[in-house]
Amino acid sequence: MKAFVISGGNPLKGEVEVSGAKNVALKAIAAAFLTEDEVEIKNAPFIDDVMAMVEIARKLGADVEVKKDHRIIINSTKVRPVKIPLGMGAKLRASSVFLGSLVSRYKKAVVPNPGGCRIGARPIDRHIDGLRKIGIDVYYNGDGYFRAKADIIKGGEFRFEKNTHTGTETLILASVFCRGKVILENAAEEPEVDDLIRLVNLMGAKVKRTKARTIEIVGVDKLHGTSFEVMPDRNEVVTMAVGAIVTNGRVFVKGAREKDLKIFLRSLNRAGVGYEIKEKGIEFGKKEKESVKPTKVTTNCHPGFMTDWQAPWTLLMTEADGESIVHEAVYEKRFSYVEELAKMGAKISLFNPKVENPKEFYNFNWEDGEKYYHAAKVFGPTKLHNAVVEISDLRAGATLVLAALAAKGTSYLTGIEHIDRGYEDFEKRLRKLGAKIRRIDKEGEL
Ligand code: EPU
Repeated sequence: MKAFVISGGNPLKGEVEVSGAKNVALKAIAAAFLTEDEVEIKNAPFIDDVMAMVEIARKLGADVEVKKDHRIIINSTKVRPVKIPLGMGAKLRASSVFLGSLVSRYKKAVVPNPGGCRIGARPIDRHIDGLRKIGIDVYYNGDGYFRAKADIIKGGEFRFEKNTHTGTETLILASVFCRGKVILENAAEEPEVDDLIRLVNLMGAKVKRTKARTIEIVGVDKLHGTSFEVMPDRNEVVTMAVGAIVTNGRVFVKGAREKDLKIFLRSLNRAGVGYEIKEKGIEFGKKEKESVKPTKVTTNCHPGFMTDWQAPWTLLMTEADGESIVHEAVYEKRFSYVEELAKMGAKISLFNPKVENPKEFYNFNWEDGEKYYHAAKVFGPTKLHNAVVEISDLRAGATLVLAALAAKGTSYLTGIEHIDRGYEDFEKRLRKLGAKIRRIDKEGEL
């Protein structure tokens, strides 16, 4: 059993360099299958999810080199579009993007129903509807696999009923060789989607945003190899930022870009917490006399307040003087960490705010989420104390680590494999900032 042992109370101080974005690197690996040539992915984070994607790529026959300097070089000349084993695909949700690239290049794909973080039902119905609309046959006969085939991808127009980040990416990968044109309406606008568009265009695709939430893909005959650098991970920036603030420290996050973090920075302004934008990154931390003010935030798709920032924001609000509200509108079940934070002394109650038309308002399918709470009232300020807590998903896990760093006493956190999925050398980098955090691999080692 792996765990973190954390002695809290030390401010995080110094400089940390942000890693490449997980949610781009994963899709870039699948995009490399669109050409026979070599694709070099630079600034890839070496995290378990990326390694799981590399494992799938190798299983499909690709030659994948993982270089020490965060480069992944993929050559898919010898790829056979075999079935991706259930166990491999079920490890991470992003495996579903292979549906797009395999059917595009090889005319068929057999891809498992995707797994990933346990943060709700997370169906891929919107992806499947879109693939069918552009001329791809997709079947699901209940054995855990989606089977897709198409002799010709004819193209067409498709309107996503609601936002889907990975769904938009899957449709882009599926459309690059279409006969005519694909127009995706109500397509996701997350910067990570733009980074993937940048990659496929570097490979020779013709993909562009024509207006807000509309993407046009003009089919081409062939794509070629390229070298591509993954954008910085804005979720990691937010993790480090909140860590600096709640531990009363000061951290310069090298590589953090203002343009990816606008709403987060605006929310920090509303919370009365300063930051400093510098040439090569952003410095976070409370200045003297600054104290956290309560806020109301609702998560949304880009350019809204990102769902991945919801858990760290809730933690930040435990420091605010008054009552804050954090409303989750993207995922139906993303408050699992609240019970764990409560063990550390946080005063949070879950509730359902009045919403006129929940079916329209929430980004998840309402029938998947009707039975859960969708908002948290946070009563601050509270001084957190140590506890034994269990991590159940990635962003929530990182938040519990930050809570333990801010808390008085020694905490014990299990389920840290969720953190390994998305943060490279998390504890080592935190230790460099002054954190007292130790990883243990066996029970009883405390
Ligand atoms: N949804 C459906 N049907 C679909 C697609 C989505 O009901 O066909 C629902 C989902 O269940 C969810 C919501 O719509 O409730 C949003 O799903 P979306 O498809 O937009 O999210 P995703 O592509 O699965 C990616 C990131 C998430 C990030 C979200 C929002 C990857 C691998 N994951 O998920 O990242 O929170 O977009 O930007 O790219 C993380 O990094 O920890 C993480 C969870």
